[in-house]
Amino acid sequence: MKNADLVRRKDAATPRGVGVMCNFYAERAENSELWDVEGNRYIDFAAGIAVLNTGHRHPRLVQAMQAQMERFTHTAYQIVPYASYIELAEKINARAPGAFAKKTAFFTTGAEAVENAIKIARAATGRPGVIAFSGGFHGRTMMGMALTGKVVPYKVGFGPFPGDVFHAPYPYGLHGVSVQDSINALHQLFKADVDPKRVAAIIFEPVQGEGGFNVAPAEFVRALRGICDEHGILLVADEVQTGFGRTGKLFAMEHYDVTPDLTTMAKSLAGGMPLSAVCGRAEIMDAPAPGGLGGTYAGNPLAVASALAVLDVLEDEGLIERGAALGQRLQDKLDGLKSRVPEIGEVRGVGAMIAVEFRKADGSPNPEFTRQVQDRALERGLLLLSCGVYGNVVRFLFPLTIQDAVMAEGLDILQAALLQ
Ligand SMILES: Cc1ncc(COP(=O)(O)O)c(C=O)c1O
Repeated sequence: MKNADLVRRKDAATPRGVGVMCNFYAERAENSELWDVEGNRYIDFAAGIAVLNTGHRHPRLVQAMQAQMERFTHTAYQIVPYASYIELAEKINARAPGAFAKKTAFFTTGAEAVENAIKIARAATGRPGVIAFSGGFHGRTMMGMALTGKVVPYKVGFGPFPGDVFHAPYPYGLHGVSVQDSINALHQLFKADVDPKRVAAIIFEPVQGEGGFNVAPAEFVRALRGICDEHGILLVADEVQTGFGRTGKLFAMEHYDVTPDLTTMAKSLAGGMPLSAVCGRAEIMDAPAPGGLGGTYAGNPLAVASALAVLDVLEDEGLIERGAALGQRLQDKLDGLKSRVPEIGEVRGVGAMIAVEFRKADGSPNPEFTRQVQDRALERGLLLLSCGVYGNVVRFLFPLTIQDAVMAEGLDILQAALLQ
C-alpha cells in the first residue's frame, strides 16, 4: 500500500470537512513512535491529540482490554450494568479535585461530556444560561460549537446554535487581555446581556487546548469561583485536554486553590479508547431524572477496562511526575533557543502541557512560520500539532511514557526545524 494511493482514495471516498493533517497513513505504533504504510518512522508529539499520555499500546492497557474482550464487549450499561463502570466512577470520584461527595457518569466523546455537563447544570439550577470564553474549544456538537470561542473552522456554516450561550474574553497576556479585562467583561455581560440569576454555568478550560495552551492565572480562576458563588452559578472545568497527568497533576484544577462543581474529562482518560466523563458534586450530578443521562455506548466495557489500567499505569510508573520533568526539559530547550529564533514570542504552559507561540518582527501572529516549523519537523520524522486562535502556536503532547532517547531525538529535530 502506498500513501499517495490512499490520499487519492480518501479524497474520493470521504468528505473534505474531515480535514486530515498528514499525507501518510498509520500502519502500527508503539509508545511514542509510529510507522506509516511505507515503513517510515515518526516520533509522535501529537499523541492522537492529547489522548495517549500513556503512549501507544501500553502493554497493561492492551492486556486489560484483551481480558475484557474475553468476557464481554458490550451490554449497554443502562440495560445490563457491570462492576467495572462503578469501580472507575469510584476511582475518579476519589481523585478529582474537591473534598466533597462526588458522582461520575460516563459518555463516549469529549463533546458529549460537555453536552452532559451543561444538561446537568441546567437541571440542577433550573436556569438556561451558559458562559464560555473566547479561544475556548468544547467540541463539534451543537452545544459544543455554541460554547466554542473560535469561529474558523469550527462554526462556519453550521448555525444557528443553541441560545443562551455568552462569551467573555479569556485572559491572554501576550495579546493584551488582562485578568481584569476578562472579569470586567463578565460584569458587563451581566449588565448588558444576561441576568446572572439566569446563568446555570460558567465553563472554562484551566489551560486552553485548541486555543493555544493559555494557562488560566490563579486570580482569574479565583474570581470565576467568586462570581459563581455570588450568583449561584456552577463552575465547570473542561479538563478534556488537560486531564490525566498532562499538566504535572492528575487534573489541572489541582494547581488552583478553588474547586469546580463539575469536571469534564475524556482523551487520555482511556488511553485511546473512546470514553469521557462528567464528575461533580453528588447532589448536582443527581439532578437529572433517571433516563436523562447516558448513551448506547456510554461507558463501554473495553474503554472502561482501559481507563482503569490508565489510572494504575499513571500511578505505578510515576508518569505524572515524569510528565512535569519532561515538560521542564522541553521548556528549557525552547527557552535556550529564544535568542537564536526571533520568531519565538512566548514559551508557556504547565507541566508537560507546553507550547511555543510565534510572532513576526512587528509582534503580530506568525502562522506561516508555525506551518514551516511543523513541515520541517515532519520531513525529519517528528509529528507536531499547532493550535491557537491565530494558528501561530505549536503545542507539544508527547506521551508521558516517551523513552529518554526518543525524547532527545525529538528535541534535536525540533531544534533543527526552528533553526533551519
Ligand atoms: C477542552 C476540550 N473540550 C472538548 C473537546 C471535544 O472532545 P471530542 O473531540 O472528544 O469530542 C476537546 C477536543 O479537543 C477539548 O480539547
